[in-house]
Amino acid sequence: MIYNKGTGENEGWLLTEEVFPVEHPEKTESSMCLGNGYMGVRATNEEYVHLRSRCNFVAGTFDLLGEGAVTELPNNVDVTNMTFTVDGEVVDPVKNNEGWEKVLNIRTGLLRRTFSWVSESGKKVTFEFLRVVSLKDLHLIAAKVNVTADADCEIGVVSGIEGDVVGKEHFEPIGINAVDGVLNITTKTRQSGIYFSTMTSHSFELNGVKLDVEPEYVSEGMTAIKAEISFDVKAGMTLSVNKISNVFTSRDKERNDCSASQLVSDAREHMASVKNRKFEDIAKESADEWESKVWSYRDVVIDSKRCEDQLAIRFAIYHLTVMSPVHDNRMNIGAKGLSGFGYKGHTFWDTEIFMLPYFIFTNTEEARSLLEYRYNCIEASREIARSRGYKGAMYPWEAAWITDGEVTPHGVKTGLYEQHITADVAASVYYYYVVTGDEDFMEKGGYEIILDTAKFWSSRLEYNAELDRYEINMVIGPDEYKEDVNNNAYTNYLAQYNIQLAIDYSDKLKANKPETYARLNKILDIDSVYVEWCDRVNKIYLPRENEDGLVPQDDTYLTLIDITREDCTLSEMSKEAHELSAKYGYQNTQMSKQADTMLLMYLFEDLFTPEVKKKNFYFYEKRCLHDSSLSLSTYSALAADLGEKETAYRLYQRASMIDMGECMWSSHEGIHSASLGGIWQCTVLGFMGVRRYGENLRIQPNLPDNWTSATAKILWQGQRLKITVTHDTLTVENLTATKDISFLCGGTLHAIGDKITLKYKEAAK
Ligand code: IFM
Repeated sequence: MIYNKGTGENEGWLLTEEVFPVEHPEKTESSMCLGNGYMGVRATNEEYVHLRSRCNFVAGTFDLLGEGAVTELPNNVDVTNMTFTVDGEVVDPVKNNEGWEKVLNIRTGLLRRTFSWVSESGKKVTFEFLRVVSLKDLHLIAAKVNVTADADCEIGVVSGIEGDVVGKEHFEPIGINAVDGVLNITTKTRQSGIYFSTMTSHSFELNGVKLDVEPEYVSEGMTAIKAEISFDVKAGMTLSVNKISNVFTSRDKERNDCSASQLVSDAREHMASVKNRKFEDIAKESADEWESKVWSYRDVVIDSKRCEDQLAIRFAIYHLTVMSPVHDNRMNIGAKGLSGFGYKGHTFWDTEIFMLPYFIFTNTEEARSLLEYRYNCIEASREIARSRGYKGAMYPWEAAWITDGEVTPHGVKTGLYEQHITADVAASVYYYYVVTGDEDFMEKGGYEIILDTAKFWSSRLEYNAELDRYEINMVIGPDEYKEDVNNNAYTNYLAQYNIQLAIDYSDKLKANKPETYARLNKILDIDSVYVEWCDRVNKIYLPRENEDGLVPQDDTYLTLIDITREDCTLSEMSKEAHELSAKYGYQNTQMSKQADTMLLMYLFEDLFTPEVKKKNFYFYEKRCLHDSSLSLSTYSALAADLGEKETAYRLYQRASMIDMGECMWSSHEGIHSASLGGIWQCTVLGFMGVRRYGENLRIQPNLPDNWTSATAKILWQGQRLKITVTHDTLTVENLTATKDISFLCGGTLHAIGDKITLKYKEAAK
């Protein structure tokens, strides 16, 4: 992958593949995935189709396939396909291609691919493929292909809608037709009964002049419908194929549960309004939307010696936009976004702990929508708690449709035991509230989430009479290599925090908002549980550092077999570490999949002293495989906090290359959503040091040596702040300036006014 191709206005914006990775096309299919939060379209090559990867996912359209399965995001029919022939010979870039370049312009969301191909008779044909999924019109996919040959030839085109895709079993066909040049396949998901309408329309140009031609339309049963046409093209002339497609479903917010005929009628009306539009106009309109909706206030500008750093943060922001259905609060972000089959489109704690801070600090409405989704899941979460003998609301480890409840595949233990998710959600509600001050959300769901999740934890605690303390046994903490453990520190601290938040809010509501309290008390019977919370909250076992200064990840971790070597971390001897753990049993070695106690120390900065944190950092980092993409960013941000600059930067570099880097097999199943949220956190919360600290904003930069400066815009209490950090100075400008905002730096509160510049190292003295 090439990171520094762009010049001028494209500098720092282009991700480029320069060789067709025949063996591993999946890498850039995922990492160059297009989308708009409503749908995702993998960056598969039009003419070369790797069967597993043709994907068009529409957020929230879950379906269940057969006994014993769990609900998953189905893969819609494909509109990216196009087959070209030159004098009857199929163009196959696997056999030959020259000058291959596939470029994702992160700024505009334009995917462009070019190469030349030589026919058996020696004619050289140059292709330029262009594609956008509009950010302006969420249903619209536009493509254009320019074909130029160096000799007279006949160019054949077959293009349309292909239903022979992986996962087609989810759909029953409803209709297939070509009406006035518009191809349509309508399907219905088998269990959830969601209608999908997909339409496509073609037009052709020669040297920019529209041709008055009509292809032949051919359907393959109910599976595919294609336009077929050929053109005699003179040497040097350019044939252009425009393909405008749309996707609608009966799950769309505006047409929820509509009939198939209503859906198709809506789609036809839409198609009529877009099919004659020029590709360039659609692409420009979408690019403008990227500028106004994303880059104008979300771009983070890094001046680094390493060009990958600038691209990495933009790559993260790009994908966080593409994959997040923030237009609809019945939906949330999948662990692989809308870019692949991985994790079935399910939502995990990845949203709250790894991605939500980005949304909270950049767009209140979008962050709120993601939390409203959790509120919309509260009934299903109460049912999970009830079914497991607990009280309150117990959030599912894996979530899909709001009424689905737990959707972790059967037999996967995390669905039963990885329970910290419930406290992660509650903690995020509080985080959101502190940063945004959104009282309306708290009234309409936030308080209820915090209170009802606390009820769950209180019922979940187990009393240890011998030690006179409450414990939480049989859990999986963030480190999923350790199953069925007792007193995972992360889980216990988060549960305690959740209950304490509930106590605090009960007190505040009783004192300041008695009507709200009364309303919530009626639903949740807080009066009956409040005393229990107060009795238990200070008796929850919260592991502290032992005599060696180590905080035990759980009751047994520190007693397990130490398989580390003097000279390296387990991550550096990953293969051997896995072999040793397989030999001794994964449960028996001090080997972690991902940040666990370190995440606790990163999120709750004041629980332990800097010395204890540093000691634990190096102890656990040595034992961590970073086998989960959620790990490196946490370690990096924590290292930055600890002033371990080189380590922080080294870990950050690895984190930023998980999807964007050279490892060709890591992104097959889709990009890693949480890791992308983590890159934003490393950059803004870690290196730039911008944090919610208690109820304050704190800015304490830790810039890597490679960087000269970094600039980001964040929201705090409805004020847009522009923050610029260099190695000496910190400048904060209040762009909204309708409210006075202060922030902590070096332990002192500084009022921003309209703008303030500090020498932050001196301020810290
Ligand atoms: O939520 C994560 C988990 O922490 C590690 N395994 C993958 C999940 C989805 O990203």
